[in-house]
Amino acid sequence: MRLYRINENVRKPIIAGNWKLHKTLQEAVQLVTLLKRSLPADQDVEVVVCPPFTALSETAEVLMESGIHVGAQDLYWEDKGAFTGEVSAPLIKDAGAGFVIVGHSERRQFFHETHETVNKKTKAALKAGLAPIVCVGETLAEREAGKTFAVLEDQLKGAFLGFTQEEIRKVIVAYEPVWAIGTGRTALPEQAQEAHAFIRKEIQKRFGEEAAKALRIQYGGSVKPDNIGSLMKQEDIDGALVGGASLEADAFAEIVKTAGKAAREKEVRSCCTP
Ligand code: PGA
Repeated sequence: MRLYRINENVRKPIIAGNWKLHKTLQEAVQLVTLLKRSLPADQDVEVVVCPPFTALSETAEVLMESGIHVGAQDLYWEDKGAFTGEVSAPLIKDAGAGFVIVGHSERRQFFHETHETVNKKTKAALKAGLAPIVCVGETLAEREAGKTFAVLEDQLKGAFLGFTQEEIRKVIVAYEPVWAIGTGRTALPEQAQEAHAFIRKEIQKRFGEEAAKALRIQYGGSVKPDNIGSLMKQEDIDGALVGGASLEADAFAEIVKTAGKAAREKEVRSCCTP
């Protein structure tokens, strides 16, 4: 019997938990300790948790050699200087993180993040050796006005202005329709697939076939253990950025396991269907 493994030509799924403004240091350590117990180190899925800055280094310490990575939720583009209150990519790296979320819709909405700042932050992350998870997505009004693709095109163009193919290869994109974030309203798998395929096409237009094929695109917006399977079945969905459900160890671990299973089935499908 032939066993199918996620091979190198297949995009490795990536599930990231965005804790937002939740968890004290003690709660954070408790959560990652539980995750470490329930998720074996050799997952077919790349797993990342993104706690608040205050818990970065302690969680990284607990997760050392666990196969679970740590990421920050934001960064500032300058490395150092008189920028009171900011945290730079080298400091995030120094705290033990390997990833950073950039341009989340909450940052765009509440903290005046623009195409230009997303671009600078993504560049700064790469320079420091952090893998940026760049968020894009339309609001409900934009979707209803038929502007979804125009908004995505604009956001991608802004975020990756001046990027090389080499840089794009290190980036992860998260498609997060704003109307699905924290609302309990998930995009239908087909709706999400349509947006993901569009994003891949845009990357292909600007950076070529290879970069587009290799690009991992996460879906985000009310991802739960019971909807991750149908989302992951979609061809262009390579993982998820999980908010609410990442705050609870059982739910997050179940999302990771279900995503792994769906990805393995997807690989068998794509390898064996003529
Ligand atoms: P949610 O958040 O899963 O709670 O909808 C997702 C996100 O904001 O990344």
